[in-house]
Amino acid sequence: MENSNRIAILGAGNIGLSIANGLIQSGQFKAGDITLTRRKISLLEEAKSKGFIIQSDNIKAVNNSEIIIVAVEPQQINSLFNEISDDLTPGKHTVISVVSGVSIKQLKTLIKKDIPVVRAMPNTAIAIQESMTCLAASKEDDRAVYDAKAIFNTVGKTLEIDEEQMNAATALAACGVAFFLRAVRAASQGGIEIGFHSDDALAIAAQTARGAASLLLSKENHPEYEVDKVTTPRGCTISGLNQMEHEGFSSAMIKGITTSAEKAEKLYTIE
Ligand SMILES: NC(=O)c1ccc[n+]([C@@H]2O[C@H](COP(=O)([O-])OP(=O)(O)OC[C@H]3O[C@@H](n4cnc5c(N)ncnc54)[C@H](OP(=O)(O)O)[C@@H]3O)[C@@H](O)[C@H]2O)c1
Repeated sequence: MENSNRIAILGAGNIGLSIANGLIQSGQFKAGDITLTRRKISLLEEAKSKGFIIQSDNIKAVNNSEIIIVAVEPQQINSLFNEISDDLTPGKHTVISVVSGVSIKQLKTLIKKDIPVVRAMPNTAIAIQESMTCLAASKEDDRAVYDAKAIFNTVGKTLEIDEEQMNAATALAACGVAFFLRAVRAASQGGIEIGFHSDDALAIAAQTARGAASLLLSKENHPEYEVDKVTTPRGCTISGLNQMEHEGFSSAMIKGITTSAEKAEKLYTIE
């Protein structure tokens, strides 16, 4: 069944457009029910050709929708809410913010009225319905979380978390896409060095990464259980793996994730 809510995505940049594309690919939403805004509207021509409603006027987008997804950068959020808060209507609108580092309390202060607010942290794989989206809201906005889950479940998996875990979710799930992409790139560069053309090396590395993730997701086993099946005694896998650990592989990933989470906490400063 199609979702009957009209959606405005205010700030149709990287993640905003990814969300829009994922929603229509899910088959649950019509492009004509989704309004996309940004100031440089000429950059939304491709989206327009897919049937999305394109606007540079955030107020018109808000008035034409029930679900308001906010996807601007943290430093752009004050002026955005200055523009739209008068037009947000209790009982009609729900705000879903994917903006990193801006708390529910700060969002409610910017909105200035009783509008349900949900924070969502998707990643760019939402464009192909493979997002891991973490959601958080205050107790009184339970119903809005339910609605947000219904939307984001059409474009990947969702997990409801405490708001205090949002910066951690930003690092692990949103930034995480880049971390795993860089790991695939590194693997493909290794592949080139041992004899594959770059396109073959990338195809092998990417499909191998997908297979490894699918093993975990389909069997729900611990990664080391699956690693043990690959590491033949005195074999080449354990030699390569131990060499990577000597070079700091796990440590680099852990330090990168904690650094991103710390940075996420400092992205928004109130003027
Ligand atoms: N990228 C990700 O993977 C990801 C994942 C999860 C969460 N997030 C969060 O999502 C937010 C956006 O990230 P992003 O990477 O998508 O950034 P981005 O590509 O820079 O997108 C932000 C968009 O907002 C538009 N914008 C700025 N001010 C506006 C206004 N007043 N009204 C309407 N549109 C406005 C900008 O376009 P104009 O300059 O043309 O207005 C731009 O296209 C950030 O807070 C980020 O932390 C990102």
